[in-house]
Amino acid sequence: MKKGAQLYEGKAKKVYATEDPELLIVSYKDDATAFNGLKRGTIEGKGVINNKMSNALMRMLEKRGVPTHFVEELNDRETLVKKVSIVPLEVIIRNISAGSFAKNYGVEEGIVFDAPTIEFSYKNDALGDPLINEYHALALKLATPKEIETIKRYAFKVNEELKKFWLSSGVTLVDFKLEFGRLSDGKIVLADEISPDTCRLWDSATGKKLDKDRFRRDLGGVEDAYREIMDRLEKNIEEA
Ligand code: TMP
Repeated sequence: MKKGAQLYEGKAKKVYATEDPELLIVSYKDDATAFNGLKRGTIEGKGVINNKMSNALMRMLEKRGVPTHFVEELNDRETLVKKVSIVPLEVIIRNISAGSFAKNYGVEEGIVFDAPTIEFSYKNDALGDPLINEYHALALKLATPKEIETIKRYAFKVNEELKKFWLSSGVTLVDFKLEFGRLSDGKIVLADEISPDTCRLWDSATGKKLDKDRFRRDLGGVEDAYREIMDRLEKNIEEA
C-alpha cells in the first residue's frame, strides 16, 4: 500500500493517507511527551517497539473477539490500519492504584483493587483531557448510550485478556488507556495503540516499572525497560 499525504502529526505518531479511502498508515516516532506535552524527550527505538507490541496485542485481541483497527504491519515503524473517526474519550482501566488515581484520591501506589475501575477523560489537549463521567460524555454528545456500553464491554474484555497475557510473561498490568473509533459503517473498534506509553507494566517479581513512568518520573533506564518488556512479549505472544 503506497503512502499518500501526511494527514496528521500527533505527539507519538504520524498518520498518512493511502490510495484506499478506508485505510490509513500510522508511523510511530521515538518522541516522548508527558504532562500534556510539557515534558519532551526521545526514547531511542520506542517507535519500533510500540508499533510491534501494539500490533501483536491487537492481533491477539482480535482472536479473542475484540474488533480493532489493525490491518497489517508494513515495516518496523509503520502499520496499515482501518480509518476511523476517533471517539474523543480516553478510556482508562485500573487494576492497582497508581498515577493520577493515587494522587487524586490520596492513596499510595500498589493497592490491588477487588474489581477493575473504569474512567473516561474528554480527549481535548486544550482542556488538559479532563476527567468526565458517562453522563458528561452523553451531554457533550461524544458518544451514544449504545456506543458507551460497547466501549465499556470491550474495555473490560481487553483488561481480562491483557492481564492474563502479561501475567504469563511475569508482568503485572496495573492500568492502561484505550481509544476507540467508528468505522465508516458506525461499527466501534479499538484504535490508537497499546504499548508501554499507554500501559503501566510492573515486573511481577520485583515491582520494577517497565513502562513510560520511567520517562515521566526521570527514573532512568528508559530504553532498557522498553527493550525488556518487548523481550517478555516476544517470548510469549506466539502461544497467546
Ligand atoms: P494516569 O494515572 O496518569 O491517569 O494514567 C493512567 C494510564 O493511562 C497509564 O497507564 C498511562 C496512560 N496514559 C496515557 O496513555 N496517556 C495519557 O496522556 C495519560 C495521562 C495517561
